[in-house]
Amino acid sequence: MELAKASSDRGELTLRRRDDGALELRVNGVFVMDDQETSSEELLASAALAAVPRPDRVLVGGLGLGYTVRALLADDRLGEVVVAEIEPDLVSWMRTGLVPSVLDDPRVAVVVGDVRVVVADLPDASVDAILLDVDNGPDFLVYNENSAIYTSMFLATCRSKLRAGGVLTVWSSSASPALESAVTAVFGTCDVKPVPVELQGRDELYYVYQGSS
Ligand SMILES: C[S@@+](CC[C@H](N)C(=O)[O-])C[C@H]1O[C@@H](n2cnc3c(N)ncnc32)[C@H](O)[C@@H]1O
Repeated sequence: MELAKASSDRGELTLRRRDDGALELRVNGVFVMDDQETSSEELLASAALAAVPRPDRVLVGGLGLGYTVRALLADDRLGEVVVAEIEPDLVSWMRTGLVPSVLDDPRVAVVVGDVRVVVADLPDASVDAILLDVDNGPDFLVYNENSAIYTSMFLATCRSKLRAGGVLTVWSSSASPALESAVTAVFGTCDVKPVPVELQGRDELYYVYQGSS
């Protein structure tokens, strides 16, 4: 059942309740996120938190249904979570309760915009972690323009915004040797974490890529 629909310059955003009871987000008909299998989105947060000695200020690219942000907020060392979300209607759906909200926590600041711009606007050395989950991975983009996010040029911009010891952590639905190379080129090494998930009865692997400054 369709719960909400919105149009933007990028196309159509749909929130629906599936027959199995799951809440599902789609962009231009393509699956983006649901509330059934959220372990890898939560691991994106825990991998970053585990790698940073004193996480205080973190930037997340892609609000989605809020699972990564919620996992970050469970850590009371965090003072601020800046969330860059390109779709204003998704933020509204969370504010009105159509999507369970993570925005009431005073530590959350949402910026409606492209994560590339939001990161570029950060002062240098100002965040402890940047977490990117804006596509189904570098090889399954939600928007074609997002291909720039996985280039060493943008990853180097991310690195310049990290405090000493900070991390860049990127979610992907598939193994991406190109992303591993780009992270390695910018950070010197890349930690690759495969995450076993069960999708509608099938065993699959998602991936988290991480570079430490
Ligand atoms: C896969 S979902 C994120 C899932 C999220 N980690 C969670 O736990 O629910 C991707 C999100 O990124 C947003 N997005 C896509 N491209 C973006 C961009 N360039 N900048 C900011 N947000 C973007 C989409 O609108 C969507 O909300």
